Amino acid sequence: MTAGDGQDGSGTGPRTLRRIEGGQGGRSGTGGPGDGEGPGTDDSGGPGTDDGGGPGTGARIHLVRFAPAKLNLTLAVLGRREDGYHSLHSVMVPLALGDALTVTVPHAARHDTLRISGIALGVDPDNLVLRAVAATRAAVEESWPGAPVRPPWLAARLVKRIPVAAGLGGGSSDAAAAIEAALAAWHTTMPFADRARLAASLGSDVSFFLARANALITGRGEFVEPLPEISGEPPAILLVTPQLPVATPDVFAAYAAGARPGDPARARRISEHLAGDLRGGMTSSRLLDLAADLAAANDLLPAATTVEPGLVDFMHSLERHLGRPVCQSGSGPTQWILYPTLADARKAGRSVRIALSDGSLPSVGIGEPFVAATAIMPPHLPPSDVQPAIAGRTYGPRTVHNEET
Ligand code: C5P
Repeated sequence: MTAGDGQDGSGTGPRTLRRIEGGQGGRSGTGGPGDGEGPGTDDSGGPGTDDGGGPGTGARIHLVRFAPAKLNLTLAVLGRREDGYHSLHSVMVPLALGDALTVTVPHAARHDTLRISGIALGVDPDNLVLRAVAATRAAVEESWPGAPVRPPWLAARLVKRIPVAAGLGGGSSDAAAAIEAALAAWHTTMPFADRARLAASLGSDVSFFLARANALITGRGEFVEPLPEISGEPPAILLVTPQLPVATPDVFAAYAAGARPGDPARARRISEHLAGDLRGGMTSSRLLDLAADLAAANDLLPAATTVEPGLVDFMHSLERHLGRPVCQSGSGPTQWILYPTLADARKAGRSVRIALSDGSLPSVGIGEPFVAATAIMPPHLPPSDVQPAIAGRTYGPRTVHNEET
């Protein structure tokens, strides 16, 4: 990872230690190589490395997993389901920006533990890592041939580089990485369908991160159709995340209460076209041509600006300053702008930071926005993990029910 000119999230030391109490750990780790992976470098954080379980853990297994951020290129809300969730049609892509999760198997642990370091943007991460480890252990225990011994306790360390509660899927990505890391630490595997079910039980966005490829997301997020990579130089992205607490449930509630776009079918039309274009093979320059459409393809934007009215002026100022379409990821508040190269996105990022500091770009929220240049870039995956992404069909825990309202 290079320091670059972006916020790389290396500012603060470990600040949180959480535990899940439970029964006794069984089989101890038998050692094995780490499988750290990641997409290389950008100026906003990459997989990096970490020093494992901390002092005194005596850990023998040390795994590093890269947990990428996601971007919603489109986000169409199709209706509300009987279970209260909203049916979506969304093209999602992984970014080179990501968190780094390290998992070790300590010698004498009596709990799963988690230490978090990295960026702090005024919001505490509602971290899913320990829940993911606990759910994976419970699922493994049901069918583990090694029973009655239990998968051992794990010590996890998370280096946060993805802003929290930002519409970038950081917590969900950490959860997916935790499932994979726990399985690897326990030297066990789980059929992909079971991992998909586990992921969906942890949150609507977690399923996407199992494929870690460009994908069309339907249902409440649990149905994932992997899509081919974009050809040419990876499209660069400037991320600007104001420090505003925008909770996803509040945004969906505002949508349900009527904060919706004037043209209710537009985002869906754009999303369907984009998914079709990507299925047929798409170039970076074609995606750049679609930037204005993508800026109009997030059905949650009116709801996000209802929850945080300050976002409207901020988006308009950013658009004026950069002279390019500004899009929102997920339920916000992250705003993103497409650029042909990482160098262009970095330059734009520098200009945004200068404009924020001299006041020509009025800020919103409780502090300086997070500004980082990154790229659409699926992380390199070992062949077994890539398999679902090339199967060319949707995976998910059960049949799709997209109910119109
Ligand atoms: O699944 P997750 O816990 O991420 O969802 C958080 C909240 O966002 C849900 O409780 C629900 O209120 C809302 N949501 C929704 N439709 C979705 C995803 C999330 O209404 N597809």
